Amino acid sequence: MKKDFVWGVATAATQVEGAAYEGGKGLTVWDVIPTRPNGARQGETAEVACDQYHRYKEDVKLLKTLGVNAYRFSIAWARILPNGDGEVNEEGVKYYSDLIDELLKNGIEPFVTIYHWDLPYELYKRGGFLNPAFPDLFANYTRVVAEAFHGRVKHFITLNEPACIMNRELNEHRLSIKEKLTMVHQLLLAHGKAAKILHEYEGVQVGIAPNSAPPIPKTSSFEDVEAAKKYYFDVERDSIWGPALYSDPVIFGDYPAAYYAVYRKDELPDFGKDDFKIISEPIDFYCQNIYNADCYVSSDKKGGYIVESIPTTCPRTATDWPVKEEGLYYGPKFLCERYHKPFYISENGCAVTDLVTSDKKVHDGAREEFLKRYIACYKKASEECPEISGYFVWSFMDNYEWDKAYSKRFGLVYVDYETQERIPKDSFWYYKKVIESNGENL
Ligand code: BG6
Repeated sequence: MKKDFVWGVATAATQVEGAAYEGGKGLTVWDVIPTRPNGARQGETAEVACDQYHRYKEDVKLLKTLGVNAYRFSIAWARILPNGDGEVNEEGVKYYSDLIDELLKNGIEPFVTIYHWDLPYELYKRGGFLNPAFPDLFANYTRVVAEAFHGRVKHFITLNEPACIMNRELNEHRLSIKEKLTMVHQLLLAHGKAAKILHEYEGVQVGIAPNSAPPIPKTSSFEDVEAAKKYYFDVERDSIWGPALYSDPVIFGDYPAAYYAVYRKDELPDFGKDDFKIISEPIDFYCQNIYNADCYVSSDKKGGYIVESIPTTCPRTATDWPVKEEGLYYGPKFLCERYHKPFYISENGCAVTDLVTSDKKVHDGAREEFLKRYIACYKKASEECPEISGYFVWSFMDNYEWDKAYSKRFGLVYVDYETQERIPKDSFWYYKKVIESNGENL
């Protein structure tokens, strides 16, 4: 990989911090959702999770041992502003400030995600993302974050996976097409307003992290590759998936042509005069979370595409995602060719069934193999795309997997949730070697 390549690992506040009712933090939707009748497994909550709030020093020590040069984590909005707006919780600011200092002391660069799904419950009650004030509320929160951490944090990622934010909302609410598109638009406005504020601070770089499952061209013929690209960046009616819906407005200043082709005028959001100017505040880097490839695509020889699903014979991770490493070649390549921004894989990794064996270790050969294959494909993409600048494994440690609670383990570090003991898995030591050789020894 290129010199100065960023090798990192990622987590998110709700998934690792714990201390849900401590340090002056307000409630988030994730303190409430799991306790509902059809919430996460038997109401298992993120109240303690990995207890990183109290154990961050121990965790930074592990990061140092791993040898990463960056740690991507998120800030819990409700720890900074318990009600979503209004009074700042200085204790919450201090927690992140101490974590950042500890990382910097150890030569690890913080990559801060400003929003990773934990909407303050008070804002949820005020209409959440559909509240017309949402973009300004997010901007106001971002101002507090930027004011507190600029100078020490260079890279800020505004939103993690807007498509998944949408998906989770849609599982909760029945919304009309206009409301769905309005919600997408509100998220993008929130991103744009936040990006503008962040840029007021010297040296700050701003990015966004959508997710996608790229297609694999059926053959390497020009026609099939072009058809796969077309499919990847298409907008399907009533679908909130696909990277272009979120990235084109941010980078090109408008939705893709397909968006206007599949929706009627009366279904579109009520665009404000300056909306696209706000949304397209230039970003400094572009991220993508990619866990798997989606399908095979070939040309229909008429300018369209034929989509085939990945057969069940393909090995799958514990979350049933196909192990198709070519996704980490085609995805980054297509995205770099379209958007031309310094590029990071902000999440990639897998859940497997991990067991602590009698030697008190975790021999997660499947995860090691997964990383080996995916990083090799990403490396191939990096040889063709100079934009490729970094890679983050999801996840640094096992954690609270949202609606799957603690049932899926994604970590390079095993967490015994009874004792909070951390055990680096074999994949941890494998990734350490990959980092040490800058991706040469896979
Ligand atoms: C990403 C999220 O979608 O994938 C992470 O950014 C999440 O927060 C990870 O933990 C694993 O996905 P899932 O669907 O198993 O929670």
